[in-house]
Amino acid sequence: MTTTNFTEVFEKAAALVKANPEDLLFRICELLKQEVYHYDWVGFYILNPDKNELILGPFVGKPTQHTHIAVGKGICGQVAESGQTMVVQDVTQVENYISCGLDVQSEIVVPILKDGKFVAELDIDSHSPAPFTADDSIFLARVSSLLSDRF
Ligand code: SME
Repeated sequence: MTTTNFTEVFEKAAALVKANPEDLLFRICELLKQEVYHYDWVGFYILNPDKNELILGPFVGKPTQHTHIAVGKGICGQVAESGQTMVVQDVTQVENYISCGLDVQSEIVVPILKDGKFVAELDIDSHSPAPFTADDSIFLARVSSLLSDRF
């Protein structure tokens, strides 16, 4: 594993938000996957409050069949319910987990809040075992707050 300069990557994300390309969310996914060695799948799930479910938005990495996830189900659905970041260092150790492939070993999901309410989340799968530190959580929370007005 290589060490990431999260400050530098955050600055690149902020520059992208400022440039405001039409496909901003996709470009953020690309940036994160490219810059952080242990991010292998990066995507957004967006809340559909009418159906109380998450819908897959822009992502990079292997296509997933989990395009709709009920609130409460899996790591993603639990974060939608709690509005709190979840870090799973070993996906085989959690019960309420939806597998997106055997190569995924760990996952971090960070909520995106707008006016204090959950609107979407950033989901990252990793093929590395236990790769996440507090730096990931802090960095991803900062990226999420940069994007909250896009939902
Ligand atoms: N593993 C997630 C499902 C989404 S995939 O990682 C893309 C979960 O347990 O909610």
